Amino acid sequence: MGVGRVLIVGSGGREHALAWACLRDAPDVAIIVAPGNSGTADIAENVAVNVTDAAAVARLAAERTVDLVIIGPDAAAAAGVADACNARDIPVFGPTAAAARIESSKTFAKQVMDAAGIPTARWAAGEATDRQRLSAFIADLGGLCVVKADGLALGKGVVVCAGVEEAERMLDDCFGEVRFGDAGRQVVVEELLSGVEVSVFGLSDGRNVRTLVPARDYKRIFDGDRGANTGGMGAIAPPPDAASNGFVEEMTRAVLDPCIAALREQGHPFVGCLYAGLMLTTDGVRVLEFNARFGDPETQVVLPLLDEPLLDVLTACARGEVAAGIAPAVHGAAVGVVAAAAGYPGDVRRGDVITGIESLDDDVFCFHAGTARDPDGTLRTAGGRVLCVTAIAPDVQAARARAYGNLARVHFDGMQARTDIGRPVTAGVPS
Ligand code: AMP
Ligand code: GLY
Repeated sequence: MGVGRVLIVGSGGREHALAWACLRDAPDVAIIVAPGNSGTADIAENVAVNVTDAAAVARLAAERTVDLVIIGPDAAAAAGVADACNARDIPVFGPTAAAARIESSKTFAKQVMDAAGIPTARWAAGEATDRQRLSAFIADLGGLCVVKADGLALGKGVVVCAGVEEAERMLDDCFGEVRFGDAGRQVVVEELLSGVEVSVFGLSDGRNVRTLVPARDYKRIFDGDRGANTGGMGAIAPPPDAASNGFVEEMTRAVLDPCIAALREQGHPFVGCLYAGLMLTTDGVRVLEFNARFGDPETQVVLPLLDEPLLDVLTACARGEVAAGIAPAVHGAAVGVVAAAAGYPGDVRRGDVITGIESLDDDVFCFHAGTARDPDGTLRTAGGRVLCVTAIAPDVQAARARAYGNLARVHFDGMQARTDIGRPVTAGVPS
């Protein structure tokens, strides 16, 4: 499609996977990653830019005459990186700040879902002055609810509550403006749902949706979904209970298409990756959240399975000409296991030496996130989620065995990795 130079915005495993996938399909493309990490430095050029400085990102794109900007993190989209690129006529895959509100305001997302008939949990929203109404709703639900800070809170603004007391405490935290700042000035309370979670990704040009293979991420730090929430400790694709084309078609029809149509009708067409976080309940599918970007670490398992050139699809989205449908995927499954640093998801220790990456099988991927290289080449931990080892095989169980077999060759002091990524589940409870 004539794309010679691409700028990928972000610095995580997701951006390493995006850069890798672009190069797999188009080895001659020049890729700049801003700011990138030491994994992207191996295959692309890193340029230090603050991802929320929209003007600086667009300036870099213009100076380097890139043909496409791909936005990774939600913060960059919410900060208006796409708007700044649009103003300079630079093609961009990623939503404007207004369209990204589908992620950056949970109240807005709920309003869109209700108006468009997208199935979601019952909810109420409000500010400190609405406290009485919110407390009444919490009492109505018997305290079995989820309280969410309205804005972006680095994945930490959601508390699943087991009772009234816990829910009220979260309201205190938000309205006291201690824990979440502006992001918590407004909150959403919703009914607690139970079931298994699935993520579905739609690549859109603002009108059409090209849907990728579904994935499941593992958000808690410890095996069996115990412990603190994290950015994601691993992912599989496709989840065996959500693998059929019929499921993907149904989710496109019932969830992704109506959301894209609603945003377009509001005058804010969504160009980018619309990520629907779903709960499969006994009453049917419910949307837990929309994100305005690729998931991390889901991208690290979804892209290795994509069986068409990523850059062509993203470019088509940016040009307003993507073909609707299900993107072809290679037959099989992918499992990615995240290795996190000591202390994660709390205060993270940095600087531990990482060894063994060079001994991974040729067809097993190591996507870097929080890594840094010394001048002499020594690789060290430099962030919470350090890397993700992804393996592909004919099915999830075989991919899981390969991913763990390879991860066992990687070492750094204090390494934390779940041992149950991709383990079969029964009735929503990890076995
Ligand atoms: P969110 O950022 O809205 O996706 O919430 C983060 C996580 O909280 C989700 O992945 C779920 O595990 C959980 N969660 C969110 N909403 C609900 C809900 N209504 N019922 C049960 N769990 C939820
Ligand atoms: N893995 C969850 C997310 O990217 O939001």
